[in-house]
Amino acid sequence: MPIHAQTSDKALLEESRAVANLIVNQVRDELVREMERTSPMRAITVCKYSVPEIASNISREKGMRVTRVSLRPRNPSLGEADVWEQKVLLDFEKRVTKGEKADVLEYHEVVREPAGMAFRYMKSIVVSAPCLLCHGPTEQLSEGVRAQLRQEYPNDKAVGYRLGQVRGAVSIKKPL
Ligand code: HEC
Repeated sequence: MPIHAQTSDKALLEESRAVANLIVNQVRDELVREMERTSPMRAITVCKYSVPEIASNISREKGMRVTRVSLRPRNPSLGEADVWEQKVLLDFEKRVTKGEKADVLEYHEVVREPAGMAFRYMKSIVVSAPCLLCHGPTEQLSEGVRAQLRQEYPNDKAVGYRLGQVRGAVSIKKPL
């Protein structure tokens, strides 16, 4: 592989790491702020409207496609993992059972796709305490949250998580 390609892969990796941290932190801050100000029910709208907006702003700014995906998505139209992402997420779970720390998992690869070559990157998203209000075991969710989730996400698979589990990942793709 030519040296300049390796250098640019490294630069892309650094940039992807920064973008993944940015989105995870921004989302957490905004959620916590909204839950303190109002209620978990209102914060559902943060997840529904603000997160895709944060992601698309970052995507536009960086010329990368930035999404959040899961093996058990709440919103199948935005959060469903593609085949490559599913493979990486399954591998993350394997790495956790082998003793790696869930919150630092990442993976990157240059892949050939029908549209051309692309740099792909994934970083794990882990369940912390505030997440449990909406992604914890169903019987621990408040009645209001449960009702709203049932209404807005009839195919919700994103409940029943425990602290420290991998909830999903930030997925970044940049055409090369
Ligand atoms: C107030 C309720 C609420 C809280 C708290 C919450 N989420 Fe969510 N989460 C949602 C909703 C609603 C969606 C679906 C958003 C959409 O429509 O795209 C979602 C979607 C996601 C997704 C995208 C994949 C999917 O399942 O569709 C990830 C990843 C995620 N949440 C992680 C977290 C993490 C990590 C935390 C804790 C820091 C958290 N969430 C806290 C309600 C919540």
